[in-house]
Amino acid sequence: MEKVVNLCSRRGFVLASADAYGQLAGFFEYAGYGAQLKRNLEESWWSRFVKRREDVVGIDGALLLPRAVWKASGHLDAFNDPLVSCVKCRSRFRADHLVEEELKLSVEGMPMEKLAELIKERKLRCPKCKGELGEAKPFNLMFKTFAGAVTDESSEIYLRPETAQNIFTDYKTVALAARKQVPFGIAQLGRAFRNEIAPRNFLFRVREFTQVEIEYFVHPDKLNECALPEGLLSIEIAVLTADAQEKKKDASVLSFSDMIDKKVIGTKWHAYWLADCVYWLQSLGLKKKSMRLRQHVAGELSHYSRETWDIEFDYGEWGWKELLGVANRGDYDVTQHAKASGKDFSLYDEASKQKFVPVVIEPSGGIDRVFLAILVDAFEEKPDKNVLHLRPEISPVTVAVFPLMKKDGLAEKGRAVFEELRKHFSCEYDESGSIGRRYARQDEVGTPYCVTIDYQTLEDGTVTVRDRDSGKQVRFPLEQVEQLIRNSMEQFTNV
Ligand code: GAP
Repeated sequence: MEKVVNLCSRRGFVLASADAYGQLAGFFEYAGYGAQLKRNLEESWWSRFVKRREDVVGIDGALLLPRAVWKASGHLDAFNDPLVSCVKCRSRFRADHLVEEELKLSVEGMPMEKLAELIKERKLRCPKCKGELGEAKPFNLMFKTFAGAVTDESSEIYLRPETAQNIFTDYKTVALAARKQVPFGIAQLGRAFRNEIAPRNFLFRVREFTQVEIEYFVHPDKLNECALPEGLLSIEIAVLTADAQEKKKDASVLSFSDMIDKKVIGTKWHAYWLADCVYWLQSLGLKKKSMRLRQHVAGELSHYSRETWDIEFDYGEWGWKELLGVANRGDYDVTQHAKASGKDFSLYDEASKQKFVPVVIEPSGGIDRVFLAILVDAFEEKPDKNVLHLRPEISPVTVAVFPLMKKDGLAEKGRAVFEELRKHFSCEYDESGSIGRRYARQDEVGTPYCVTIDYQTLEDGTVTVRDRDSGKQVRFPLEQVEQLIRNSMEQFTNV
């Protein structure tokens, strides 16, 4: 992990925000290769889950929403983390993290009162100054501000802590405009903000991040009317059920077909969205052994959830952590907004001629966590260099073009080849340093192909194409290079 963080900083993938003024914890900026890689991940998500689907519509909503929305959604009252402060030095800690670190035990899902009891009973002290700790209390994670010049409750607005709520408030209008009927989804990719008590682990827990969410609306009687394609049914993955966690058992490997047959996952639509998210993550290059499914235990469920499964990633020394979650939110949000606004949020079923309130299955992920997981999984340290084994579709640079030398017309030919290839791919031209050094620079940022122009190119129009992973160079006629790269990308897309 340290090496990946180091690479991100050295090659400018990710920078601490406003660094010149002393870093503000929990805020980062993506730059250069990092900005491109993040954009590629976002485009891959949008393409798979919105553009290529008939049943999902995208929205791009406001970041700030009024108090009434967050009161109705339950976030004002329940979107809290347990906070504990040192009486002496005033440092603040997340009570659950402090207990986990000091007592080396898992407190997943433990209620606030129990945490407070544990802190007292085990006489935990401030990790910074050994001072006495105060009572654990709830700390609301939303950032608050005001719209306009008046600063009272009527103008209170909050930066959204999840992208989901604009979807719920708008869902009937969006569905009507797009002529969608259940089952259908509304997707959003955008920023979310949480005033985390202790942002940490680099991009893993930050205060501003990019979420990707789909609220998928299903008729409550039809949660099992979903036919998973064979490609999803056959995916096998390690699974840790709530029951296994309670009995301190290990994860077992199951296919989605097994999970449906054995009713491990509550409904088929829930299983479908979990499988589709796993498939997307695998198609980005995440290894099967680096992921597992973990069901939330009872006390851990969010205030809106009936059942939640996380897709967790093995972040090495940080252990297994949530990458993406799929929740069954029931009719909680739709009902809450109907009650609070006094508007009709129900849908109409043509067949039975009856109104109904849909149930929502929500796949929800964070691009920043996926970005970090991809780098951790793709990173290889070799004796003489680092290599990022990124899939060609998501690599910040698809192909780099090098003239062997700057002289004898090689640089001019190199630039001409670069100008041609950049029409089709993300492309970089480099003529400085030894060829080995140039290969190493590209390997470290994950460029899958390097095209070299040498003296033979000037004679017969062939170039060498070097493959990052095998290190092999093969000579091809120049006019075949574009198709060669395209073929390799298509091969990955169809996995
Ligand atoms: N709408 C449901 C929801 O927001 P969540 O599990 O709280 O559920 C969804 O968040 C995803 O957002 C997580 O799986 C994670 O990838 C990402 N996420 C949440 N908090 C984050 C944080 N502080 N920093 C980075 N990513 C975060």
